Amino acid sequence: MCGIVGYVGSGETVKILCRGLKGLEYRGYDSAGIALSERKGINVVKAVGKLENLEQKLSGQDFSTAGAGIGHIRWATHGGATLKNAHPHVSEDGRTVLVHNGIIENYKELKQNLQNKGYHFVSETDTEVVVQQIEEELKEAASPTEAVLKTMNKLRGAFALAVMNTDFPGKIVVAKRNAPLIIGQGKNGNMAASDLPAMAGEVERVIYLDDDELAEISEDEIKIVNAAGQVVSKTFKPFNLAPEMLSKRGFAHFMLKEINEQPGIVRRMLQKYLSEKGVQLSGLNLSWEDIRNLTKIEVAACGTSLHAATAGKYLIEDLAGITVEVEPASEYIYRKHPESRNVLVIGVSQSGETADTITAVRQAKERGAHVLAVTNREDSSIVRYADSVIGLEAGIEVSVAATKSYTAQLAVFYLLALYLAQERQALDEDCLRQTEQALQAVPSQMEEILANAAVVRRCAEKYQDARDFIYVARGVNIATAMEGALKLKEISYINASGYPAGELKHGPIALLDEKMPVLSILMPGSQNYDKLLSNSQEAKARQARMIAVTSSADRQLENLFDDIIRVPQVPELLSPLTANIPLQLLAYYMAEKLGRDVDKPRNLAKSVTVE
Ligand code: G6P
Repeated sequence: MCGIVGYVGSGETVKILCRGLKGLEYRGYDSAGIALSERKGINVVKAVGKLENLEQKLSGQDFSTAGAGIGHIRWATHGGATLKNAHPHVSEDGRTVLVHNGIIENYKELKQNLQNKGYHFVSETDTEVVVQQIEEELKEAASPTEAVLKTMNKLRGAFALAVMNTDFPGKIVVAKRNAPLIIGQGKNGNMAASDLPAMAGEVERVIYLDDDELAEISEDEIKIVNAAGQVVSKTFKPFNLAPEMLSKRGFAHFMLKEINEQPGIVRRMLQKYLSEKGVQLSGLNLSWEDIRNLTKIEVAACGTSLHAATAGKYLIEDLAGITVEVEPASEYIYRKHPESRNVLVIGVSQSGETADTITAVRQAKERGAHVLAVTNREDSSIVRYADSVIGLEAGIEVSVAATKSYTAQLAVFYLLALYLAQERQALDEDCLRQTEQALQAVPSQMEEILANAAVVRRCAEKYQDARDFIYVARGVNIATAMEGALKLKEISYINASGYPAGELKHGPIALLDEKMPVLSILMPGSQNYDKLLSNSQEAKARQARMIAVTSSADRQLENLFDDIIRVPQVPELLSPLTANIPLQLLAYYMAEKLGRDVDKPRNLAKSVTVE
């Protein structure tokens, strides 16, 4: 959702900025651009499309006098993906340049004021008003920092900004509100960026700016001030994200690498939280009494995280007997929530930066509910509003389509459900221990599935001509069906829907013919197994192409299904952890066969920082 980067120092500015933008590419790829402070003045280079287009434009040019620069990667909100809308934006007098992540909500009124003063605008973006406003403020202000401060106090909305001005070479001013911005200090210079991967290998220590703070960054000084212009003192934290952490390690795509990391992640999480004494969730700051008194859990999340929460509802209700409401964060925030006493509100967000999810937890905290953040980034904004935090421990996820973070979120919900069950004595000891033991066996079973990826690849070859897909399941695997369908849509652009199988006959069945694949997730031992078989028969009767993901050894299935992907037998409640992997692989291989850009699917961004 746009990313910004800035660098001042003695290193190779263009290379450092481009590497920085590469680390932010997951945030958008509609255009990329940089502005350099060179001996001859400020030089702006930008290109529509992916970063490689910008790199091509930059190649072969001499930028040896560039001692500072800012860069941007865009996910278009206001105005199409065109060159004139690409950042950096330049003020009318050509002296100030700016990059921006976020949305300026009052840009229309600011624009009108500036137009009345004779300013002309060249782009359709909300961002351009900010750079023109800074130019206006510079008429009176003593420095760009003062001008940015005055401008910032006039803005409404979300922003992380980086600004340079020709009269102040070798300096970058950055500011933020409701969008992340990190400042890094390295041996050869200082940086600012929307996220840590942009600074991997370049800086050794970082600080996080808070809302309405500004920093003036030069090669040997970082000065931070608040909205009132007072100097703020902050402590740097060590930072050591090695660039290799962001490599594909021999896999064709980050997505495939991340799918393969899943058994290790679940194993690590179980080692950390599960012992012979049961589950200990150190991140959950609720007393035994609080847990006993819980009347309800509300979960707000988006996209893949919402699907993990959907599975979580089944797990917690089944194991711990607490009612769980799961809602897209974008809806949760516009609804009244009359109860907040004894309610636990969980915000699930891989990035911890999704605007709707952050708003949901902020509102919940204001209402007095206990807020738990489940996130892969314990340094992210969501943590600021949380009373408790459980980290996913999945490592940086680079591919835009979430895979390993989904599995890690599922693992958190298993641990949480078991912990709540244990503390509330909702399950007898034997049942608890059996579930825990079965969970311990899952990482090896996941490895078995990955070792048989060829079966799924053959399936993908066979079905790559399909233009639509339906995934059906019952019970806890409804989440698996929805997530499987989302993965396929996201990266292969094939229309796919995940349905509770019982709903098939209430509409979707009208779509079935000999071209439509219907994939059923069938777990033997579940109370709905036979019902799901009947639903599959109904689809078969309409000539649908039938695929099953199952652990059943039942030979009858071969008459019903054209293709069967087998996974190891696990208790039904644990099967989302295993059944999901073939669906991730199916989406991956289909997208690969269709020649899609697997790690950077069109129109998507990994972190959606606008509502
Ligand atoms: C975007 C991403 C999805 C992700 C969703 C929620 O739409 O493309 O992969 O599931 O945001 O992100 P979060 O970081 O809050 O889990």
